[in-house]
Amino acid sequence: MIELTDIRKSFEDNNVLKGVNLSINTGEVVTVIGSSGSGKSTLLRCVNGLEKADGGKLQIKDKIFSLDNISKKEQLWIRRNTAMVFQGFYLFNNKTALENITEGLIVVKKVKREEANRIGVEILDKIGLKDKKSSYPNQLSGGQQQRVSIGRAIALNPEILMLDEPTSALDPELVNEVLMLIKDIAKQKKTMMIVTHEINFARNVSDKIVFMDNGVIVEQGSPKEVIDNPKTERLKNFLLHINKKL
Ligand SMILES: Nc1ncnc2c1ncn2[C@@H]1O[C@H](COP(=O)(O)OP(=O)(O)OP(=O)(O)O)[C@@H](O)[C@H]1O
Ligand SMILES: [Mg+2]
Repeated sequence: MIELTDIRKSFEDNNVLKGVNLSINTGEVVTVIGSSGSGKSTLLRCVNGLEKADGGKLQIKDKIFSLDNISKKEQLWIRRNTAMVFQGFYLFNNKTALENITEGLIVVKKVKREEANRIGVEILDKIGLKDKKSSYPNQLSGGQQQRVSIGRAIALNPEILMLDEPTSALDPELVNEVLMLIKDIAKQKKTMMIVTHEINFARNVSDKIVFMDNGVIVEQGSPKEVIDNPKTERLKNFLLHINKKL
């Protein structure tokens, strides 16, 4: 189980996270929705340690961390176990698809190259890119590159996989292949936290949807509860706005 308690973060006088509380059960998929600037990325970054929170606790299994005060060793453990996928793919351009996937295994997890390659090929198969093993990022489509970056994250076998708008930099015709891969991973009961603007995808893939507004979680629940029966005016307005765009 993963538990976030009272996570707070300000950038100077901009109070971005005002005490976020969230429980995620093992194997659960949680999607985070909310308007631009509501603090979704900052929340993921604070959990992962890319951004230092001003306060709050993170529990992963039986380990509890005070996010405003973590040691280097704890930081490394958290990074490894909360692998993150970003909107841009951030692959190593001078490494092949296989090498991009095995790099973290070899450098971070100290897995021997042979074993890393074996795992890497298995993952390439899972992400449907076995035949692209030796291709460099500039020889892959955007969708394929994003699948490699998801492969790289799952190679580390993190306790939770966090994805921040994994499809928003893709051309529309490439969005589906990445969403299908994420769905596939969800089916295998990987714990995930996904920030997305794809509301239909969120409905299909989520055990729980979380609506953030202005630095707090305003509503959370099943897709039925959150999307079909919003309780607050804030969420009703947000959904109206999204539907208008479709
Ligand atoms: N490194 C930073 N320095 C200063 N302010 C920041 C930083 N990162 C985020 N912010 C501010 O924090 C607020 C929340 O940003 P965040 O990126 O978390 O929003 P978001 O919900 O992910 O939005 P979007 O849907 O547009 O990605 C914004 O006001 C943003 O300007
Ligand atoms: Mg964001």
